[in-house]
Amino acid sequence: MKKHIYLDYSATTPVDPKVLRAMLPYLRKEFANPSSIHQPGQRARAAVDESRKTIADFLNCFSDEIIFTGSASEANNTIIQKLIENKKKKGKLHIITSQIEHKAVLMPCEMLEKKNYAEVTYLPVYKDGVVKVSDVKKAIKGNTVLVSIIFANNEIGSVQPISEIGKVIEDINKKRKPSDKVYFHTDAVQGVNYLERDVNKLGVDFLVFSGHKIYAPKGIGAFYIKKGSPITPLIYGGGHEFGLRSGTENVAGIVALATAVKEIQDPRARVKNIRIRQLRDKLIKRILKDIPDSKLNGSLKNRLPNNANFSILGAEGEALVIA
Ligand SMILES: Cc1ncc(COP(=O)(O)O)c(C=O)c1O
Repeated sequence: MKKHIYLDYSATTPVDPKVLRAMLPYLRKEFANPSSIHQPGQRARAAVDESRKTIADFLNCFSDEIIFTGSASEANNTIIQKLIENKKKKGKLHIITSQIEHKAVLMPCEMLEKKNYAEVTYLPVYKDGVVKVSDVKKAIKGNTVLVSIIFANNEIGSVQPISEIGKVIEDINKKRKPSDKVYFHTDAVQGVNYLERDVNKLGVDFLVFSGHKIYAPKGIGAFYIKKGSPITPLIYGGGHEFGLRSGTENVAGIVALATAVKEIQDPRARVKNIRIRQLRDKLIKRILKDIPDSKLNGSLKNRLPNNANFSILGAEGEALVIA
């Protein structure tokens, strides 16, 4: 039988056995609703609170700056749509993003353009797949309210200079009135496993990530929102998540997400990541050597350790993946 190796971890990861063990009790014995005031409900609430604290510590922020969602798509949409809607006064507002964002960022931007709420600058990336900090700086205008740059691209794995962009925005904000602040959002879905995640060092107001890219299950996401940011909910209801996202909490998913985050911080993960990088480099070397007309997309330097992405002259990418 042919041996298959799954190489599509940017699309999704399996659930880590430790993550599964941690979440299972919350699907069966400890199934209570965290909003119930009886003891099983209180235990579920404690699990949510503890998980939130784990994630807040991971990102170096306060617990009430972490909002759980059903996905990273939902988190990105909440931030982009609601920031613009809430800041909208008379004229159009301005958003700066990149041409290599995930659709969960591009589509809400396009929707806001269609509604005439915002004009959007889609910054290019260069040969290395990276946005230039100077391009971001040049693009900022008086009506710019949001810069949204992906932390690391989901296809070519290029890592963007988030903390440098954060610094530029911070300097610009020092010269502006608080009401004219430029907010900075990063979709860190692909980056959170491997890159800097201290939101203060990154200089971001919003950071989004998703469970199923970090060995937790699908259907759980979260975002960091800096205190005081003008976001209102996309989903109204019982006022969960500090009033920012209604819906009974996915307790098992939340516990899973926090357990996955603990695993990222485990010192053994560093060793694992070095091994992943070595395997990636070996794969890149062999493909470039053995497959004629193959080319690595993006740079080797500014690249996620788990990403290798190629073009092969004359071969259609999708056909190769299906085969
Ligand atoms: C960079 C990036 N952003 C957002 C998403 C959407 O994440 P979710 O599946 O949690 O909605 C993905 C998933 O493919 C992604 O890779």
